[in-house]
Amino acid sequence: MGNIRVLVTGAASGIGKGIAEKFLSQGAKVILLDKDELKLSETAKELESSTEVVESIICDLRNEKELQSSIDWTWNNLGGLDVLVNNAGLAIRESFVDIPLSTWDQIIDVNLRATFRLSQIVAKRMIEDKVSGSIVNISSKNGISGSSKLAHYNTSKAGINLLTQSMAVELATYNIRVNAVAPGFIDTPLDRELKQKENNLKLTEKTPMNRLGTVQEVANGVYFLASHQASYITGTTLIIDGGHLANASEF
Ligand SMILES: NC(=O)c1ccc[n+]([C@@H]2O[C@H](COP(=O)([O-])OP(=O)(O)OC[C@H]3O[C@@H](n4cnc5c(N)ncnc54)[C@H](O)[C@@H]3O)[C@@H](O)[C@H]2O)c1
Repeated sequence: MGNIRVLVTGAASGIGKGIAEKFLSQGAKVILLDKDELKLSETAKELESSTEVVESIICDLRNEKELQSSIDWTWNNLGGLDVLVNNAGLAIRESFVDIPLSTWDQIIDVNLRATFRLSQIVAKRMIEDKVSGSIVNISSKNGISGSSKLAHYNTSKAGINLLTQSMAVELATYNIRVNAVAPGFIDTPLDRELKQKENNLKLTEKTPMNRLGTVQEVANGVYFLASHQASYITGTTLIIDGGHLANASEF
């Protein structure tokens, strides 16, 4: 996949950073987008030691103006995009009856609304450019099966799965493929508190592979779906969870 242009959102940390590294290792030009200026510059510096092109954009995906200008910048500087990875996301643990409207809106806005809006703007431009593009959305096992204290997060990820299918159906005619990846428990800063606390309570007890996944294992799935190896795959959600959902009926 040499010379392809890839934009990864939420790339300053965790899975997004791992995805950026994977594409760079395969010779792609990668744009890292994140709202966290400090982490983003640290990550960009770290990844710049590779020989490939790394650009970074500071953007809060909840801000329409910043989102629009990020895409303008991308087209002005790289001439377009071949791959968009909608990875930025956040999770907050709150009981259903206590979820304030503000966190409901925040999580739906970043995880779902921004995925819709960024994909819409990018897809329009890919169509104009007649690019055979690929969009990969980062969902979650929580978008397929529910859990306590994450009603907003779970809903946002379930929305991503159906958004992925809906986009895939409409964009296939333009040779743009759209897929999602649904990770299980992955070793990243997201939900770190729970991972540390629950590790004692055997967080991965019901995961047949009995360990957290790595960002590289998720990045490999994203790379596969974006690549020509997946040329007849669109509208699918690839579960990368060590068998966790396969084991949902276990007690
Ligand atoms: N880590 C897991 O166990 C796990 C499991 C399933 C799904 N996921 C999903 O993977 C994706 C990445 O998660 P992670 O674990 O790497 O999290 P992370 O917290 O390490 O990284 C998320 C990144 O998104 C950025 N971000 C958040 N809000 C943003 C906004 N408004 N605008 C721009 N950037 C923003 C953050 O600054 C951060 O750098 C998320 O969509 C998450 O829901 C993670």
